This record gives sequence, structure tokens and C-alpha cells, in this order.
Amino acid sequence: MKTNTQKPPIILAIDTSCDETSVAVTQGQKILSNIVASQIELHKQYGGVFPTVAKQAHKDNIEATITAAIKRSGITIKDIKAVAVTQGPGLAPALEIGIQKAIEIGKNWSIPVIPVNHIEGHILSVLAQPNPRKKIFKKINPQLPALAVVVSGGHTEFILIEKIGHYKKLGATLDDAAGECLDKVGRLLGLGYPAGPVVEHLAKKGNPKSFAFPLPMTANKTFDMSFSGLKTHSRKEISKLEEKKSLDAVTTANFCASLQFGVFRHIIYKLEKLLIDTPIKELWLGGGVAANQTLRTSLRKTTKKHNLIFRTPYSNKLCGDNAAMIGVVAGYKWQSKLNKTNSFDQSPQPKTPQRIDRKPHWNIDSASRLEAKQ
Ligand code: KG4
Ligand code: ZN
Repeated sequence: MKTNTQKPPIILAIDTSCDETSVAVTQGQKILSNIVASQIELHKQYGGVFPTVAKQAHKDNIEATITAAIKRSGITIKDIKAVAVTQGPGLAPALEIGIQKAIEIGKNWSIPVIPVNHIEGHILSVLAQPNPRKKIFKKINPQLPALAVVVSGGHTEFILIEKIGHYKKLGATLDDAAGECLDKVGRLLGLGYPAGPVVEHLAKKGNPKSFAFPLPMTANKTFDMSFSGLKTHSRKEISKLEEKKSLDAVTTANFCASLQFGVFRHIIYKLEKLLIDTPIKELWLGGGVAANQTLRTSLRKTTKKHNLIFRTPYSNKLCGDNAAMIGVVAGYKWQSKLNKTNSFDQSPQPKTPQRIDRKPHWNIDSASRLEAKQ
């Protein structure tokens, strides 16, 4: 009888949850290719993502992105054992294109379709590894429980990982996400879309103490967050500066540094409170804003203080939306099926669910409950 020491299956993964058409080829934690066809240029004119425009762009790009991902990976179609796809959360019209394509591929190539939660993708993105050319591949074996801090344009959440596939949301933003706040305030400052990376760039030249920002929700005992107050405060400050005609390059840089400081201070304040009574071994940072060096440095300090292992994706490409993280999740889902049968002989393949409906508001807590039921 064969045991599951075999190589993990090769998976084609698709993410069309928002404004990037992404397709990847993965094998367990290993990334063989990860193509991201960005729609940023298209959405710039609207100052944000326009769902029907995103849908059309996914439609136009998906076929070429799949071809490019397979070509870049160096494998052939017959090596692919499953197709993984983001089922949610995300923009419903955008999700639809990826799901339809995955179902079509599953039927045509006679392989299972594995639906994946996008937030679980951001969480497990920290475990993704590049494909070493000659060296032996080193798998990451995380110590659990761990806490994931997911900070993106749509989400800001603290998620406890009891074991991979079993998640508990301990806190989340009640309104805007941290990235959304940076984007919206950045837009008021005329920094374009998405403004997050520009805010980081300008903040490097600014003084974070120039403008005082409120620390939100200190009286609230939960680990939830709120960024809309920081946005409103920014709006008032910016209009005062505009009235005085003093929003020059130096003031803008100072404002960006102070805003960034205010946003990250809020996350770290709540995180510190959470860590008091939450025994974990590792802290994982994922999501688009995880590319920010100031946030990484602050969280690294926090983890050092609490004697925790800190993990964040090895490349910025894995912080923003990408399909490789979806493939990594699907690899674990496949593996967990193997662990249940503990043999490659007993139908190790996951089955394509009968229905794969879009789940634009799919909560990570229910993701783990659904997983347990399957
Ligand atoms: O994960 P992501 O690509 O999409 C969502 O799932 O939302 O995150 C995009 C967000 C945007 O708000 C963008 O401004 C922000 O991540 N972002 C950054 C940086 N790079 C991307 N924010 C701050 N600093 C950065 N370097
Ligand atoms: Zn995302």
C-alpha cells in the first residue's frame, strides 16, 4: 500500500475576486507559476473598482492568463490534477468568471474543481514557497495555533488558526478596511488609485508626528477595529490644509506618514490586547497592505516582544491578490482528504461539489464549518 509521501498534486488555480485576473500553477506549497493580469489602469479613471468593468476585463483576460501560467510553469496540461478557484468573498460579477472557467476546465479535463475562500488564501500565502531550481525544496511546517492578521483593501481581520482549515475570527473592522482607508484618504490627497503604495512611498519622507490622529475604539473591549473615523478626521484636516493652500509636497509627505502611523497604531493596539489572552506560537501577516515595510517592521517588533515566530509572504506579489495563494489552500484541502483515508488507494481525489455558487460575503468562520461538513 502506498503512503502519502508522494509528491503533492499539481493544481491550476484561478482568482478573479476583484481587479486582478490571476492564474497560477502550484504543487503543495511550491509555486510553479503565478501570473497576475492587473486591471489597475482600467479602474484608475473611476478611482476604485467598477464591478461590471472588472467582469468584462476578467472575461477578456482569463484564457490568455491560463495559457501563460501553464507555459511559465513548464508543465503540461495532463500533469494538472485539479483546478482551484476563488468562490468568495469578492465582487459577485468578477467571481462568476473564474468559477465558470474552473467548472468548464474541470469538465473538459476530467479533473475535480476545488472551491477556495479568498481570505484563507491570504492566510496561507505566508506558507507559499518559490520553486528552487536545483536545491531541495524545503517545506514550511508551521507551529500552531497561530494568529493571522489579514490587512487588505477589503478586509482587516484577526483570525485564529487552530489547525489549517479551522479558523476562528477574533476581530475585524466594523466599517472600512485599512487598505481602503489608505486608498480613500490618498485619493483626497490626489495620489491616484490604489493610493496605499504611494502613501507608503511618501511617508518615508514625512514625519509621523506632524498630524495627530485619534486612536479608535479604545473604550470597546472587543478586538474589532474601525477605520472610518480616521478617514473622516483626514477629510476635515485635508480641507483645512486646502483652504490655507498649504498642502505642498512636504505637508503631503507628513500627512501620509501620520496617517499611516494612525492606521497601523490602531491595528497594533488591538493586536496587543488580543495577545494578552490568546496563546499562539506564530503570527502571520497577509493581504495587500502586508507589502508595507512599516507595518512589517512594527509587527516584527510585536512578535519579538511576545516571543512569536513572524511569517509574511516571501514576495510582495503574494501579498496582493494572486492565484498562487488559492492553489496553496487547495493543496492543503487535497492533503486533508488524504489524511482522512490515509492511503492513495482509497479515492484520494477531492470531488467537485454539485454546485459552486458565488459567495461574495463568505465568512472565514463558515469556511471552516463548511469544510468540516464535507
Ligand atoms: O489584497 P489586495 O490586493 O486586495 C484585496 O483583497 O483587497 O489589497 C489591496 C490593498 C489596496 O488597498 C492597496 O492600496 C493596499 O492593499 N496596498 C498597500 C501597499 N501595497 C498595496 N497599502 C500600503 N502599503 C503598501 N505598500
Ligand atoms: Zn484579497
